[in-house]
Amino acid sequence: MADVLIAPSILSADFARLGEEVRAIDSAGADWIHVDVMDGHFVPNLTIGPDVVKALRPHTAKVMDVHLMIAPVDPFIPAFAAAGADIITVHAEAGAHLDRSLQLIRSLGKRAGVSLNPGTPETVLEYVLDRLDLILVMSVNPGFGGQAFIPAMVEKTKRIKAMIGDRKITIEVDGGVNPTTAPEVVAAGATALVAGSAVFGGDYAERIAAIRDSCASL
Ligand code: DX5
Ligand code: ZN
Repeated sequence: MADVLIAPSILSADFARLGEEVRAIDSAGADWIHVDVMDGHFVPNLTIGPDVVKALRPHTAKVMDVHLMIAPVDPFIPAFAAAGADIITVHAEAGAHLDRSLQLIRSLGKRAGVSLNPGTPETVLEYVLDRLDLILVMSVNPGFGGQAFIPAMVEKTKRIKAMIGDRKITIEVDGGVNPTTAPEVVAAGATALVAGSAVFGGDYAERIAAIRDSCASL
């Protein structure tokens, strides 16, 4: 049975009750809490900053998986680390110095991730693999929840899986993940799944279990 980590994205939560929502997904069986940070510049939407991550930190002991969709990103990494993020993921497209960003994240004692937009080839990872704890494959164009999964990202996930070899790097897929698409990406090599609308659109425990169960026979 595939051991899959489910990371509900609080982008689809009720922002007026975020602390309560984080506690609810924690007790509903979430493995990680996925936090989408958007700057209205790198992506066409605005969400939250490090103060919100800091305010949410006492509400869960689970891994806070912070996805930074911001450019420039380096000036904000220390604030997210101090706020209590466990994983800090930056976009390969967000700056000219990906290797430097990854070194900075690890120097702050955090797990370092790189995210790739759907149009970005996995080859940009080739020379930073040894600085990575996580690769976040975007299976929608970042900016909004509730978009349709892009099927070509299954092949990209397979290529990334082959590329990382026996390194201990988590492959996480983000965007349009539901009980139909989850088994496809897990079969391709993903071991962590972000799900926003698929979790928050109903009973959280049932929705998380449905995604997990969809991959159970793999
Ligand atoms: C999109 C975000 C995702 C988003 C996923 O930019 O990175 O984490 O919340 O939402 P769903 O699961 O609804 O596609
Ligand atoms: Zn995300």
